[in-house]
Amino acid sequence: MKTIITYGTFDLIHAGHIHLLRRAKEMGDYLIVGISTDEFNKLKNKEAYHSFEDRKLILEAIRYVDHVIPEYSWNQKISDVKEYHADLFVMGDDWKGHFDFLKEYCKVIYLPRTEGISTTSIKNHMNNKW
Ligand code: CTP
Repeated sequence: MKTIITYGTFDLIHAGHIHLLRRAKEMGDYLIVGISTDEFNKLKNKEAYHSFEDRKLILEAIRYVDHVIPEYSWNQKISDVKEYHADLFVMGDDWKGHFDFLKEYCKVIYLPRTEGISTTSIKNHMNNKW
């Protein structure tokens, strides 16, 4: 069985997220998604609209996602890869090169992002509407 792991905030779910998750899942058998906790978002100066619990609930309902884990800090990835025996680490290419240190532990692939959509752009769009 081939296990894939990926990370993100996955706040306002959009087609770019789904394309990423689908392509990640197609690369193996079991997809684990690490989502940032609300505390970790604060550390990154990010604020999600949905709480960690709600983002987890939503992601778990996506057919490509097999397991959701919390991401508490930047440096847990090596231990997650080891603990879950991940064969492949996948991220969108906005992160290209950032996680190459994981190559010692598993394969690392950066997938092309879907053009023209992001949680930030949805938030900006809605802010201008109201
Ligand atoms: N992603 C993607 N295509 C997009 C947006 C996101 O492939 N258009 C990928 C990211 O590269 C990452 C994962 O989806 O691997 C989760 O990204 P996240 O940061 O949660 O989504 P964004 O919409 O980019 O959120 P934000 O605007 O808050 O950065």
